[in-house]
Amino acid sequence: MSFLANTSQQTHCCSKNLILIGFMGSGKSSIGRPLAKQLQYDYLDTDQVIASKVGKSIASIFESKGEAYFRDLETEVLGELVASSRKKLVLSTGGGVVLSEKNRGLIKSVGIVIWLHAAPEALFERAMRRPQRPLLEVEYPRYAFNQLLEQRLSLYQEAADIKLDTTELSYSKTIEKLLAELANT
Ligand code: S3P
Repeated sequence: MSFLANTSQQTHCCSKNLILIGFMGSGKSSIGRPLAKQLQYDYLDTDQVIASKVGKSIASIFESKGEAYFRDLETEVLGELVASSRKKLVLSTGGGVVLSEKNRGLIKSVGIVIWLHAAPEALFERAMRRPQRPLLEVEYPRYAFNQLLEQRLSLYQEAADIKLDTTELSYSKTIEKLLAELANT
């Protein structure tokens, strides 16, 4: 049976978790929250889970403990989620979640992995709109952005079940398109 075959089935069908991946600025949180609301799913954001677990913002975790420490927390939080066997969950992840093979395996094991992508110009502009992104708070953010994107594109591709280009789409259109894609899954 197709996932989300029609509106009346949306809250009853299969309850598969939806995992949003993508680069910083791809709209994972902005889309994840209303998507969850529309489906009557729970919404979680790995960055928020990490921040509340540690009692510090992501930026201050990076600053005080470094990126490797943050990456370990990311894997720990994903592991806990998998162990919890939660269902009907929309999960937004940090842009670097795909860096570790273990994380890629974990997200694939808990639900349908959706890669929100956009043209580099759009991603960069959106990513720079929000402060508190430690990996882009550097002397040459565009250079750092290009390096990270190049390093990650194939990893998003590898992890994704569905890829959605959001360059020209509003958040509501993205959700509409995603639900249509899921209906064919
Ligand atoms: C990161 C992305 C951030 C956050 C952390 C690292 C990354 O999340 O997890 O700053 O490595 O791309 P967003 O993708 O929500 O900005």
